[in-house]
Amino acid sequence: MKPQPSYLPSVLQRLALPTLVFVCFASAFFSKTWYLSPVQEHSPKAYSMLLLGLGLSLWLSGAYFIDQCLRILFFDIFLQRTLGRSVPDILKSIFSIVISFLALVGILKTVFHFEISGVWTTSGVAGIILGIALRPLIADVFSGLASNIEGAFHIGEWVTLDPGRAANQSYAGWVEEIRWRTTRIRNREGNICIIPNSMIATSIIINHALPLPWHRFSLTLILDHTIDTKRACRILEASVLAAVSDHEGPIRLPGPEVRITKLDDLGVHYALLFWGDPSRHSPYVLNDRVLKSAYLHLNKAGITVSQYRKQIIMEKQFQGEEGDITVSPLRFLKNLSLFQGFNHQDLQTLAERLILHHYPRGHNLVEAGAEGDSMFILNEGLLEVEGKLDNGSPVRLGQLVPGDFFGEMSLLTGVPRSARVFAVVESSVYEIKKTALKPMLEKDTLLLDALSKALAERQARNADTRAHHKKDSQLDLESHSLHILDRIKDFFHL
Ligand code: CMP
Repeated sequence: MKPQPSYLPSVLQRLALPTLVFVCFASAFFSKTWYLSPVQEHSPKAYSMLLLGLGLSLWLSGAYFIDQCLRILFFDIFLQRTLGRSVPDILKSIFSIVISFLALVGILKTVFHFEISGVWTTSGVAGIILGIALRPLIADVFSGLASNIEGAFHIGEWVTLDPGRAANQSYAGWVEEIRWRTTRIRNREGNICIIPNSMIATSIIINHALPLPWHRFSLTLILDHTIDTKRACRILEASVLAAVSDHEGPIRLPGPEVRITKLDDLGVHYALLFWGDPSRHSPYVLNDRVLKSAYLHLNKAGITVSQYRKQIIMEKQFQGEEGDITVSPLRFLKNLSLFQGFNHQDLQTLAERLILHHYPRGHNLVEAGAEGDSMFILNEGLLEVEGKLDNGSPVRLGQLVPGDFFGEMSLLTGVPRSARVFAVVESSVYEIKKTALKPMLEKDTLLLDALSKALAERQARNADTRAHHKKDSQLDLESHSLHILDRIKDFFHL
């Protein structure tokens, strides 16, 4: 395959030295009669020494030239482009050894005029002795070769190696390098594990990049029997979706799923199934993202994972609309950082005025351009905020997870709703009417500060998002925040 012009200079650069050395020695060797005849006449001994040197140099430079041509043109360009991945060093080294051995045989036969059949016999005996002495090393080398040919894994893929009884732990990581004797794996902590190839040959290998580049991950969470399974699936599905919609995390398509896999004394086992690309993120990072998201969603819904030793819960529990245990509006408010500055009585008053709504998947909770005199806090589920670009095409502005509030822009400034907010999965939200919020805003400026800061941040982020799509000017966050604060104070006559 013709090398691309972009790396042609580097190929020529790498080949220049071996070619130059070889051409020099070859021309010196083949034109020797021309310039060495005077030496031959005056000193035959010096002549034979020079011949020996020339012969040796020609063979060695020839071997070096062939080895470099093979490495650069065949392995690094042809094979790498045909296979679509880099060729392990071990294969290149084996070819180098074969070339060196042939050059040695050539030197012995043509320069030193040795009888080669004797060399074969001697090398056979030496081979047996060396073979016995270096048995583990040879096992490593051939195991490395075998797994290369078999193609069980390649450089850059995430693998888990389970050596079974040979070691009491398994090794997982990205394949960094396949060497002569060992394979180097970079584990999730970033350390390099150097594993003998013979151990790999007897290991069970899970290659997470096969048969598809994405791997399906499964995490199991056990929740109590008392929790409605439909609701639990809904909360968990929203949590996995929230984790997968992050570009840096698990992949969004094919979509994640939540399945019940078992019922036992511990509770109901829910499997969270999602896809990830282990060549970009280690399975530990992906699992961590999904588990953190699941924890957040469950925590906001007042659900903890099942405990083996069951306790009698003395705390007064709140019966939700669906009849199962959920967090009371008061506890829900107390868990929010937004309301940290308020005492129990204030929150109790506000909790009594919260209105709980349930919405199906795809429902528009807020329409862009509509009038709005209330704000909302997401209780369970997952919401998406969608704005419009100047040309009218929709743009994703953000995602709301349980505990996040929205609708504050219209409520506080009196302008129409700035974006559409819709339910990605079945969701429930608490609505706070302007009349319920006003006494709280009057009582504590911290709440107003927090809301106006969030509002300004969101607007700045939205401007950035829009500018990203269309080169718009950016809003100055600080001055904008002050400007918004003034407008809110104006609107509430504060
Ligand atoms: P409001 O304009 O009243 O109605 C739409 C709501 O979407 C808006 O208030 C904000 O609460 C919310 N919103 C707008 N942009 C974002 C964003 N980038 N992230 C989260 N929420 C947002």
